[in-house]
Amino acid sequence: MSITSLLQQAALLPEHYRTLSVKEMESRILSIKRKLGSKLFIPGHHYQKDEVIQFADATGDSLQLAQLSAANKEAEHIVFCGVHFMAETADMLTTKQQHVYLPDMRAGCSMADMADIYQTEQAWPILQQLFGDTIIPLTYVNSTAAIKAFTGRHGGACVTSSNAKELVQWAFTQKQRIFFLPDQHLGRNTAYDLGVPLENMAVWNPHKNMLETKHPFENIKVILWKGHCSVHEGFTIQHTEAIRREYPTMRIIVHPECSREVVAAADDAGSTKYIIDTINQAPSGSAWAIGTEMNLVNRIIKQHPDKHIISLNENFCPCLTMNRIDLPHLLWCLESIEQGQPHNRIQVDDHICAEALRSLDRMLVSR
Ligand code: 13P
Ligand code: SF4
Repeated sequence: MSITSLLQQAALLPEHYRTLSVKEMESRILSIKRKLGSKLFIPGHHYQKDEVIQFADATGDSLQLAQLSAANKEAEHIVFCGVHFMAETADMLTTKQQHVYLPDMRAGCSMADMADIYQTEQAWPILQQLFGDTIIPLTYVNSTAAIKAFTGRHGGACVTSSNAKELVQWAFTQKQRIFFLPDQHLGRNTAYDLGVPLENMAVWNPHKNMLETKHPFENIKVILWKGHCSVHEGFTIQHTEAIRREYPTMRIIVHPECSREVVAAADDAGSTKYIIDTINQAPSGSAWAIGTEMNLVNRIIKQHPDKHIISLNENFCPCLTMNRIDLPHLLWCLESIEQGQPHNRIQVDDHICAEALRSLDRMLVSR
């Protein structure tokens, strides 16, 4: 089901939740959490707001939250504080008796929406014609369940930013070429780090149904879907240059969803977990400019008063869709469960789930 039809069906937050005080909402959330105990599990992605994260039973990046969801056999209700594709992934990795909810159905991921299954099904035969049976698809977990199913059906795997390298290496043991969806930057940065030159990569433009490259087709090893994260594309070379000018000794660390130029200009790049671990291990007094989502950067700044940490883009880059999950939506979702009339359930069709699980399972066994 498309995000548009989901949104048409989605219930909207009743107005009275907007009039509640923060104290009132926090105390009601706490009391539902106590009442439901281990029947309720609230995973929270690192990009969530503090007001939500304080109630998370576990926090993590998308790989950790997928692993935790798969391991949890106890919770009947999983209230996913993250974005739509993460809740879909949790639904697919849990049992039929466990129900997954997204507190605000408008919490999608603009990058995941950049690759739809119809465009992908159109691209595949053209690529097969160009390259024969030499391609394996890999999809960033930031993708719809239908794209994960496409990937599973064609022998490929899902990746997250923390295991992309291992899975790209694995994919090259399976086929000569990789079709990487939907984030061109993660695909390009990962392949480049593994030694694939930029001239061996091409971009698939889904709007023109065309492969964009200046190089001979036979040299192409990596086909990158023309998608990106608008949050991470907000970091530019101008930002890295400004940091070098103003703070010559400051280290720049960025997420691999940033462009190749920004990653090349940074001192270090890695997944959400990698960024958190690197700052945790950094010596007191060290100075960092971080190129990733604003809620996480703000939290890291608060957690490390002994270090000089700033955002790589001082105007900050929030993920607006992640930010849609807030206290009123969390309370509304939990109260609907408590009252036995839950809404905003995320449920992946059985036939999509079966094929998508093949690509998710390949991802989960890789680590
Ligand atoms: P992680 O895989 O690092 O959690 O990132 C998810 C995401 O949406 C980054 O923009
Ligand atoms: Fe999607 Fe970018 Fe938001 Fe991550 S930060 S959820 S990739 S829009």
